[in-house]
Amino acid sequence: MRRTTLLGTALSLCAAVAASGCSVFDPPADIQVYSARHYDVEDAFKEFEEQTGKSVEFIFDEDAALLERIKAEGDDSPADVYMTVDAGNLWNAADQGVLEAIDSPALDDAVPAEYRDPENRWFGLAVRARTVLYNPNAVDPAEFDAEDTYGGLADPKWSGRLCMRDSQEAYTQSLVASLIALHGEEGARDIVQGWLDNDVQIMSNDILLIEAVDAGTCDVAIVNHYYVARELDEKPDLNVKLFWASQEGEGTHVNISGAGVVATSDNKADAQELIEWLATDGQHDFIGGNHEYPVNPSVEPDELVASFGEFTPMTLDAQAYGENNAAAVALLADLGYDG
Ligand SMILES: [Fe+2]
Repeated sequence: MRRTTLLGTALSLCAAVAASGCSVFDPPADIQVYSARHYDVEDAFKEFEEQTGKSVEFIFDEDAALLERIKAEGDDSPADVYMTVDAGNLWNAADQGVLEAIDSPALDDAVPAEYRDPENRWFGLAVRARTVLYNPNAVDPAEFDAEDTYGGLADPKWSGRLCMRDSQEAYTQSLVASLIALHGEEGARDIVQGWLDNDVQIMSNDILLIEAVDAGTCDVAIVNHYYVARELDEKPDLNVKLFWASQEGEGTHVNISGAGVVATSDNKADAQELIEWLATDGQHDFIGGNHEYPVNPSVEPDELVASFGEFTPMTLDAQAYGENNAAAVALLADLGYDG
């Protein structure tokens, strides 16, 4: 049954690592991954194949599209692992019954409790921080509200000085979802309205934000730390500095990429082995080129990221990110965030 249902998806799966001479008649790989994550997965899967002899195929799409696809495929879904780039999406997939709870001492050891599902249906694999980037020619970091840095950017003193990411992006949605969790819907609305009153410029990717801060187009932006590391790796003279947000308050907003075993998988043991490997021996391969923080505390972040210094993260509340997502999206649309 699986062979026949795979025919329809095999063409798109031919982009996969294991697919040498892939045709619709090839048997499926041992493990099929539906991934919303692009960074470094191909190299990591290749390394896993070399170390274990088990083959991995994957397809890329957006988180929500992959989740809908798994649900639509139902019992016939070829997916063994669902991999996302946002804790809210992991929570959402688990909430919709798409992920299987797994018993894994290896993952319990490797992944701190705050970065995995209390019911063991998903596990974080890489951590990113979304914090403030500033131009040191234009900003004295003492200007930031150390208690509530995100909310502090609603202060009129930042008028005409802010750049932020568009509302389509999960990074923005989860940040606002976390503001709703912290301040309630009205409080979050006041903060976003304050950013808008400050004539925030909205940009369509984080690299543009970093370039705008470097060029002095904006004094301050909110960005994922790894884009800054990536840019500094190539251009060490960029005129930008990271500020760890809200260190005297709730901490800096963080999010995870993570994965779970798909409930309809017919190869759950191998799917679990892949996730375990990614959280342990494969951590370097998984986050290697992307400058994220390893989720496994026994693995060191790379040198450039370590040079950003230590910070206190905001408690990752996947349920809040998931449950508040719709409210965050509605709030942003209602206020005309994207202009
Ligand atoms: Fe990204």
